[in-house]
Amino acid sequence: MFPVHRCRRLRSNKTIRRMIRETIISPDCFIYPLFITYGKGIKRPIPSMPGCYQESIDQILKSAKEVYELDIPAVLLFGIPEHKDEYGSSAYKEDGVVQNAIKAIKDNIPELYVITDVCMCEYMSHGHCGIVERGTVNNDRTLELLSKTAISHIKAGSDMVAPSDMMDGRVKILRNSLDSEGYTEVPIMSYAAKYASAFYGPFREAAESAPKFGDRRSYQMDPANRREALKEVALDIEEGADIVMVKPALSYLDIISDIRSNFNIPVAAYNVSGEYAMIKAAAQLGWIDETMAMMEILISIKRAGADLILTYFAKDASIILNS
Ligand code: PBG
Repeated sequence: MFPVHRCRRLRSNKTIRRMIRETIISPDCFIYPLFITYGKGIKRPIPSMPGCYQESIDQILKSAKEVYELDIPAVLLFGIPEHKDEYGSSAYKEDGVVQNAIKAIKDNIPELYVITDVCMCEYMSHGHCGIVERGTVNNDRTLELLSKTAISHIKAGSDMVAPSDMMDGRVKILRNSLDSEGYTEVPIMSYAAKYASAFYGPFREAAESAPKFGDRRSYQMDPANRREALKEVALDIEEGADIVMVKPALSYLDIISDIRSNFNIPVAAYNVSGEYAMIKAAAQLGWIDETMAMMEILISIKRAGADLILTYFAKDASIILNS
């Protein structure tokens, strides 16, 4: 009988589809980003990221509790400081916004895993990810600030640090500083293959971190480069990264897949603000089914090879997955 192979046999109903499904997502693979601002009683909507807010610590605690109750294991913290300068001094203050938020979360929800983004851009008056000298970011001078920042997060109680600056050698410097302070058990998740992307637009509004001049192309990767991602990842692993991240996720599924097949450490992917905003905007216009598009996107990132997904959809998706 023609044809012998009928792929439709295994698609005929919900149950058989469920039985042969190759990729499963659960709240276990999500990390939810939170934006912490100074002040009290603040929950300021971020216009280009519906459902996301800049929140003061009292409000962050409520959001963190919500995340924890949805069974999402981890949050990623970003800070919006009151004061910015050319040395990003608010990034490594003992009582900075992020440091205070870590303490509050750890005091109230000790089991929620706290990861902190380590970068200077939100704390610099010019919005670049490091110390600017003669119009460009000085790599080696920036490393010292990153290391101070990471140590201050860990002292406040953060469980893991995630450097997102793309300076060369930062993983090594962070590993050395953590070890010499006795934090040998603290893991580093490096934003290893982070591309200079237009999809960060809404985040820069959220974190108030857009560069005041120029762009980030002298430190973030060129979107055209695939092999170079393997080099970045190999270096970060050699320097001591425990988890490597690809960012953004959707236009870089090939990169996630390459890394998955070349290395044996957990891979994270950042489903970034612009990827979120596009779905939200199309859904608001009635042009797309938001829930279905969201789930398809998250599955595709997992299918490409990501173990962990940083996503603003974490809460919405978990509500569906838990039901
Ligand atoms: C900080 C940082 C950025 C993002 C995460 N960490 C912005 C940037 O590099 O400009 C982007 C996250 C997102 O778009 O959701 N360097």
